[in-house]
Amino acid sequence: MNIFEFTSLVNFNTVTVTIVVVLLILLVSRSLQWPANIPPGPTGYPIIGCITLLRNRNILEVFRELRGQYGDVFSLKIGPNLNVIINGREALREAFIKQGDEFADRPGGFLEEKMFQEKGIVFSSGNYVKQIRTFTSATFRNLGFEKRSLELRIQEEVTAYLEIIEKQNGEPYDMKGVAVLAVSNVICSMTFGNRFDYNDTKFKRLTTLISETLRLLVVGGVINTFPWLRFLPGDRFSIKKIVDNIKEIKDFIGEQIQEHRHKMDRDNPRDFIEAFLIQQQKKNSSDEDLKFDDMDLMISVMNLFFAGTDTTATIIHWAMLFLIHNKPIQDKLRQEIMTVVGSSRLPSLADKTDMPYYEAFMTEVFRKGNIVPLSLPHGAKKDISFRGMVIPKGSTIMPNFDSVMSNPDLFEDPDEFRPERFLGQDGKMNGKERDVMAFSLGRRVCLGESLARMELFLFMTSLLQRFEFLPESPDKLPTFDATLGITRAAKDYSCRAIKIQ
Ligand code: HEM
Repeated sequence: MNIFEFTSLVNFNTVTVTIVVVLLILLVSRSLQWPANIPPGPTGYPIIGCITLLRNRNILEVFRELRGQYGDVFSLKIGPNLNVIINGREALREAFIKQGDEFADRPGGFLEEKMFQEKGIVFSSGNYVKQIRTFTSATFRNLGFEKRSLELRIQEEVTAYLEIIEKQNGEPYDMKGVAVLAVSNVICSMTFGNRFDYNDTKFKRLTTLISETLRLLVVGGVINTFPWLRFLPGDRFSIKKIVDNIKEIKDFIGEQIQEHRHKMDRDNPRDFIEAFLIQQQKKNSSDEDLKFDDMDLMISVMNLFFAGTDTTATIIHWAMLFLIHNKPIQDKLRQEIMTVVGSSRLPSLADKTDMPYYEAFMTEVFRKGNIVPLSLPHGAKKDISFRGMVIPKGSTIMPNFDSVMSNPDLFEDPDEFRPERFLGQDGKMNGKERDVMAFSLGRRVCLGESLARMELFLFMTSLLQRFEFLPESPDKLPTFDATLGITRAAKDYSCRAIKIQ
């Protein structure tokens, strides 16, 4: 080794050591700032915290064990971050409803701050999120959440969806792929004012980008905890790919915004973008947190796509899986549809109140499918006192809905799929559905709940009215195994749809 190589090695080592020391100081000083009475939890190791507890384990099982050891509110250190997990119906209601204001913010990690600038609906906090949520709910209402117009848009999509399924001629097809296209088109209809042909190149690219980015975010999300990982050579955590995808989605939405700006009817907004642009013009007060600028709009539209497509398609995917496994339940549902609707017209929302078995079935799908078991992360923007403990500023807070949905005290034999558990002696819903918190609770409850429920009703009942669903082959029933990413999804499977004559 010559002197230059030696010097550069010493320099390299000095730099590495300095970085490690600085990181250690930062980590230690952060945890030293936490008060003594943070929620109890495992101690973990320096720097990495309790990360090893989660390695190769089902996170929901780990949380069940930790709840048994530490109680309804426990903490888990992951890297420099403190995660507080809230379990059980009572603690969840106390936090997210009784102390709703304090528990309403997002954690504000690297992804939220750098990629979404804490704008839009999903990743924002404080007054800003109150204002954008109020605007979005009002716009959804005006666009027809409570009128026939939205129903007609969904029915238009249902018709296109049924045609695609009929074209499969009873051959096995990818259940989820088609569902993603259909529910994405409903969001297109609401945000852009029009649906796309399923073969439209731009539309296909948009849906592919959204699915791919959601998948990549599961691994890429690690930079929220360890932001410095993005400086590693190569693209090990797909951060660059996520950034490129998001840019392409933003460009697509940006084009739509420009087109709307030129063509819109200012007295009669037809979609979310037009309603937003009208508000943008009206807005003259600069002291509001929400400025209604183009970035607020772009990120909000992106949020609606990310939040509203994979979730709804994943639920349809679970529902079909339970139906393929349970022929008697499928027959019973179809019988209810034939009694209330018949076969000469498509089901409509007005039929819903007469179909308690559908309601019970879908509620059981929400419970057993449990597609967002840890909701989206919430965050403490200041120290929060809760049940005599302190959740320190900067903590990530996770509601654990699995602790309710699979609680045997609330749902007997929770591993069984049994829609009847939600029906009383009179055949009507018995109130137990209130414990199925599929859309979360409190100030950040899902903004698309009504839309999702409408879509699911119209899609599921129309499908069952027209087709019988069978496994790919009688000896090849798809598995109930799930993968937990952004959503908890059933493994991909194919099924056959046989037209009912
Ligand atoms: C079966 C379908 C769906 C399920 C199970 C579901 C569930 C959820 C859950 C658990 C949250 C997190 C709430 C929290 O942070 O505590 C959420 C948020 C959200 N959902 Fe949904 N969702 C569904 C469909 C939709 C649809 C169709 C849309 C849109 C049009 C939508 C829009 C949103 C938005 C905008 C948020 C963020 C709310 C906020 O941050 O304040 N969701 N959803």
